[in-house]
Amino acid sequence: MTKTPKINAAVLGLGGMGGTHVSALKASPYVDKIYGYEPDPGRRAQRARELGVIPMDLADIMRDPAIAMVDIASINEAHVPQAVMGLRAGKAVLCEKPMGTTMKEAEELIKVQQATGGFLQIGFELHYSKLYSMVKDWILAGAIGTPVNIQCRYYCCEFHRKDSWRSRSTGGFLIGEKLSHYLDLQRWWFSQPLESVYSLSSPKVVPYFSHRDNHQIMARFKGGGVATLNFIMYIAESYHEDPLQELLAKQSDDGHYLQYYVCGTKGAIETDVFRRRVRRWEFGESDTGFESKIVETHTFPKEEDQVWFHNTYGQNLRVIELIAKGLPPEVPAADAYETMKFCFAAEQSEDTGRVIAF
Ligand SMILES: NC(=O)c1ccc[n+]([C@@H]2O[C@H](COP(=O)([O-])OP(=O)(O)OC[C@H]3O[C@@H](n4cnc5c(N)ncnc54)[C@H](O)[C@@H]3O)[C@@H](O)[C@H]2O)c1
Repeated sequence: MTKTPKINAAVLGLGGMGGTHVSALKASPYVDKIYGYEPDPGRRAQRARELGVIPMDLADIMRDPAIAMVDIASINEAHVPQAVMGLRAGKAVLCEKPMGTTMKEAEELIKVQQATGGFLQIGFELHYSKLYSMVKDWILAGAIGTPVNIQCRYYCCEFHRKDSWRSRSTGGFLIGEKLSHYLDLQRWWFSQPLESVYSLSSPKVVPYFSHRDNHQIMARFKGGGVATLNFIMYIAESYHEDPLQELLAKQSDDGHYLQYYVCGTKGAIETDVFRRRVRRWEFGESDTGFESKIVETHTFPKEEDQVWFHNTYGQNLRVIELIAKGLPPEVPAADAYETMKFCFAAEQSEDTGRVIAF
């Protein structure tokens, strides 16, 4: 019997997401020791105790050849500096999105990855979601013909709260921070290069945000497909911290929406997170005209939200296994970089009022 390969890993940033990353490392059969880093030594010791990991200074993590993986769940500004440090130190890196807070940073990271040839996967975990992979599988199977039009409506409550690092972040922050996942899906489903992006944002409503709170992003892909993403972060009534983590029944009809319509030449797909549902239509033509029929519907229970929706845990388990076995990333960093270009083009379009062509 072959022995299970085991690695030591270090989690950088021991906040909410750091806790999720630690739980996957703890559950993985491929992990031996888990270290944790926070810049403030007091918080580092406290969070390490709470999460059951070994506290360690960043320089020591980078210096220790026995630590094969760094798992970055720190605030966005730290992602690229820490990922660059990790790759240069010869470590495999799993880094939370966004891949940088500026285009320059994203470029720097992809260049370092290419120069070192190191393992780098960015946390676009929706590729591991049962809901969104079902859409991908249907598209690949030809169930909707050629995808031509993707519409996303995402409305939620303000759940970043006053005086948080998120509320204090400037620019088009929410595009990288939240919408990068959803622009990434549009790219994944079309499987075509982007041609152009145009985005608008109306004056903000949330008074304490240093950044915009709404985005209407439109994109054209090679082959003629178009996509929109319509985001508002203040309309829904209920506040349960991140509404996507806790999909309470009330939220499904108080202004929250997270829906996609993926239209193809032969059918369409709808995903609806707050109704925990995915449906598929088939198009046809009768003697009297064009017809559309719902042919498949799947729903999922609340207990399965994690695996059907964000599935960060499932992504992390898989990435740890890839690293321990010396395999390459399943969602390559070069692909995440294309999504970041999409995000920054939308920001640039909002800043300048121009269509950004690729
Ligand atoms: N993939 C997803 O769906 C998803 C969901 C939530 C958060 N995230 C990402 O995870 C990251 C963390 O988010 P969170 O919700 O855990 O925030 P959080 O505020 O709960 O935690 C951030 C932690 O990083 C620490 N920190 C600050 N500067 C640091 C540095 N230089 N090095 C290491 N740690 C540092 C903070 O002290 C804090 O403990 C963010 O980049 C966020 O975008 C991703």
